[in-house]
Amino acid sequence: MIEQRRMLIAGNWKMNLSLDEAVELAASMMEYSSATAKLDIALFPPAVYIERISSLLEHSPIIVGAQNIHPEEAGAFTGEISSKMVLTSGGQMVILGHSERRHIFAETDEFICAKVKRAILSELTPVLCIGETIDQRDAGETNRVLKRQLEGSLDGITIEFPGELVLAYEPVWAIGTGRVATPEQAQEAHAFIREWMDGRFGRAGRDCRILYGGSVKPDNAAGILTQADIDGALVGGASLKSLSFGGIIIEALKILER
Ligand code: 13P
Repeated sequence: MIEQRRMLIAGNWKMNLSLDEAVELAASMMEYSSATAKLDIALFPPAVYIERISSLLEHSPIIVGAQNIHPEEAGAFTGEISSKMVLTSGGQMVILGHSERRHIFAETDEFICAKVKRAILSELTPVLCIGETIDQRDAGETNRVLKRQLEGSLDGITIEFPGELVLAYEPVWAIGTGRVATPEQAQEAHAFIREWMDGRFGRAGRDCRILYGGSVKPDNAAGILTQADIDGALVGGASLKSLSFGGIIIEALKILER
């Protein structure tokens, strides 16, 4: 079982990097393996690289995960990947409900929920992403949107241990824009999410890790990661270079060593 709310620094590579570049980046991240004495590090490469990257990191504590799965166990779903494929390729976690999947690929809470169920059933840890658009925030609807996404994406789900589920608050307006949420904005949303999780799942829910995602860089990481309800970061752009991703890990370590 994962130590309670152990900090997690995760890199979502999205649809980037050639195989050689991906291998080089993963290899360079091994330099930070010793940081896992204090926190968890996870890499989410494109699915076709999972087997190669997890073999490369076989003797490293760095976790590898997928960016998506299909809810069904197997079948005629051309182009999709299953939880079993991820697991048997060495993946241990999966990002689900990312805003790019919700908005570009029109994934609904219901569909995402089916994936979360499949992941938990397969013992693949889901990293469930939720977050509001700028219009929703400006209209004062942030908490209502988060609640709707939580209710819909976790409908009928049960968890026994906090380690079974990770959440990521990723305000859509902060993703890939360079416009990071202020630490106060992020903390406010995380506190709301934690309270909802407590109400819905009790102790196990309250102790689930909640990551912040959206333009996290080494120079803004400390402000975000010192917030009471923020348990780590889900990093996009800055995870594509070992110097910047490593820089965020170093910032996290500084906080933990204080
Ligand atoms: P950026 O860090 O590039 O804003 O992306 C965040 C994200 O979407 C991580 O899943």
